[in-house]
Formats: sequence, C-alpha cells, structure tokens
Amino acid sequence: MDASQDQFAIRVRDLVVGFGRQTVLDHLSLDVRRGEILGLVGASGGGKSVLMRTIIGLIPRRGGTIEVMGQPTGGHGRGAATIWGILFQQGALFSSLTVRQNIQFPLRENLVLSQELMDEIAIAKLEMVGLRAQDADKYPSELSGGMTKRVALARALALDPPILFLDEPTSGLDPIAAGDFDALIKTLQKTLGLTVFMVTHDLASLTTVCDRVAALADGKIVAIGPMRELLQSEHPWVRAYFHGKRSQMLQHEMR
Ligand SMILES: Nc1ncnc2c1ncn2[C@@H]1O[C@H](COP(=O)(O)OP(=O)(O)O)[C@@H](O)[C@H]1O
Ligand SMILES: [Mg+2]
Repeated sequence: MDASQDQFAIRVRDLVVGFGRQTVLDHLSLDVRRGEILGLVGASGGGKSVLMRTIIGLIPRRGGTIEVMGQPTGGHGRGAATIWGILFQQGALFSSLTVRQNIQFPLRENLVLSQELMDEIAIAKLEMVGLRAQDADKYPSELSGGMTKRVALARALALDPPILFLDEPTSGLDPIAAGDFDALIKTLQKTLGLTVFMVTHDLASLTTVCDRVAALADGKIVAIGPMRELLQSEHPWVRAYFHGKRSQMLQHEMR
C-alpha cells in the first residue's frame, strides 16, 4: 500500500449499480479520507442508501472498483465486521433483545468472549454513547428515539471499527436530540479517530459536523468539498438543493 492510498479510507471508482433496467449509480467515483466526517446529500430515491450498501457489499455492482482501507471489498472476508460499523436508515434494534444483548450481538457473531467480558464491553460502549449502565436491561420499546439511535451506535461500534456508516441518523429526532447526536458523532470521531460516512439531509449536521459534503445527482458525485464550497457550486441540482435550504441555513448560523 503506497502513501497516496493510505490517505483514503474508502475509494470508489466508476461504480455502476442498477436493478433490472434501472441504473441507480452511473460511473460514480468518490474518495473518503481517513479520519474525516463526509456528509452525503442527494435526492430522495437517488441512490444514497444503495451507495452505502454497495460499499459494504450488500448490493452487487455491475462495474467499477471499491477499496476500503486499501483493500478491495470482498477481500475482508469475515473480518469485514471489524472494519465498519453501520447505522442503517431503518436501523431498528432487535426488539426481543435487551439493550445489552443488542450491543453484544456483533461480539457474539464475531468473537468468542466470556460473558463477563462481553458485559463489560456492553457497559463501556453504553457509556461511550452517553447512556447509563442502568439502561442495559431495557428493551427497545422502552427507549426514546434518541436513546434508540445511541444504542444502535453502541452496537455499530462494539467491535471498534475504524469506519462508521450512518444512513440519515438524525431523521425522526427532534432538533435537540439531533444536535446531541451530532455532537456525539463529532466527539467519537475525534477521540477514536473514526472515519464517518454519513447520509443526511440535516443542514445543521452538514454545517457543524461534516468536514466535507458530497452531492449525489444523476447517479454521480457532482460536487464535493467543504460546505462553503458546496454553497458556491454551479451544478443545477446542488444549487437548487441548497437554495431551498438557504433561509433555514441563515437562521441556523444566526443562532
Ligand atoms: N434492493 C433493491 N431492489 C430494487 N430496487 C432498489 C433496491 N434498493 C433500492 N432500489 C432503488 O434504487 C433507487 C435508489 O434508492 P435508495 O438508495 O434507497 O435512495 P436514497 O437516496 O433515498 O437512499 C430507488 O429507485 C430504489 O427504488
Ligand atoms: Mg436512503
């Protein structure tokens, strides 16, 4: 692995993904730098979730290459679970399992550990996401929306992966819970050195948490850079997207 590769956590080149006659991603290329929080915006149904799922190997590709941590995807085998953690858009917890059991699920799947050690890890992860040990024995139905996201995050980070995928993590949360979740992501990125790939429509997240923002339109990344650069983009879709959001943004900046 040479130094230029080493700079990137994820490299996607010329990716083509489709279903039947529909082409969703059309020669898409994207680099995610190590240690950054990259936000991904795009029209609803534009392929954001498909991109994430293709990177982690859940959806087959028709063309192109994907490298994660310098290795082609598929090359990680069973080790993949230790490379990335994922918060799916419909990222429900297992409703029949307690918080503790949910967090321990990836540990059970991938490692052989004593129950005692697994319990220690579950509590440590709970505390890492700002919850308390007392929450460990609750069931998902007993949690608020914000707590549910935090538990899902604790589960995603159970195996200490260097990369975290978040698919619209703050949608459905009230602005305070969303802001708290964003602050947590930023803290974890800094303290754990995580690389975060986050699909979001949340302007506050884009402006305050993301180091760079990528815009997906017509199956491609049409703009990428710090938020202030995206705001200057000449691309018609990017302009339209942020123009509609501009008044919201100004309000946000004045707070
Ligand atoms: N498993 C699948 N089978 C067929 N079509 C799919 C599948 N997953 C996604 N699609 C289609 O791909 C397109 C992009 O979907 P998606 O990535 O979920 O959009 P979004 O950008 O809102 O996350 C949509 O037209 C969707 O219907
Ligand atoms: Mg989606």
